Amino acid sequence: MNIYWDVLHAEALTAMKKAYVPYSKFPVGVAALVDDGRIVSGCNVENASYGLTLCAECGLVSSLIATGGGRLVAFVCVDIAGNALMPCGRCRQLLQEHGGSTLQMMTDQGVKTLADLLPWAFGPEEIENRLS
Ligand code: THU
Repeated sequence: MNIYWDVLHAEALTAMKKAYVPYSKFPVGVAALVDDGRIVSGCNVENASYGLTLCAECGLVSSLIATGGGRLVAFVCVDIAGNALMPCGRCRQLLQEHGGSTLQMMTDQGVKTLADLLPWAFGPEEIENRLS
């Protein structure tokens, strides 16, 4: 499946511009290619109760499921300048669930896999393999 990184980057930028970040002033935008060709995106949404902040990846995953599900194939996360931003640890785990270790991740050092960013991950297989 062809990955048009420039298109994903543009979608992430568009999402970043919609971020609700009155507290951190740190907008984040994400976009991902789904295995059926769809592109899903998200932005961070903060809250006066700071700990309730939704990372951009939360919106992306919600959009993925709400628009029909599927597997994430390629992912881009950008900051206000459009530079690649590394997803936080919690969001790497969210991506693990819906993309798995082969998910292609754009970084400022080129394309990596989610396995590179989250080695020895815990995922759905761990549960399936251990349930009797
Ligand atoms: N943020 C994300 O949206 N995704 C990440 O992976 C890293 C952090 C947001 C949360 C918060 O609104 C802002 O960046 C500063 O931490």
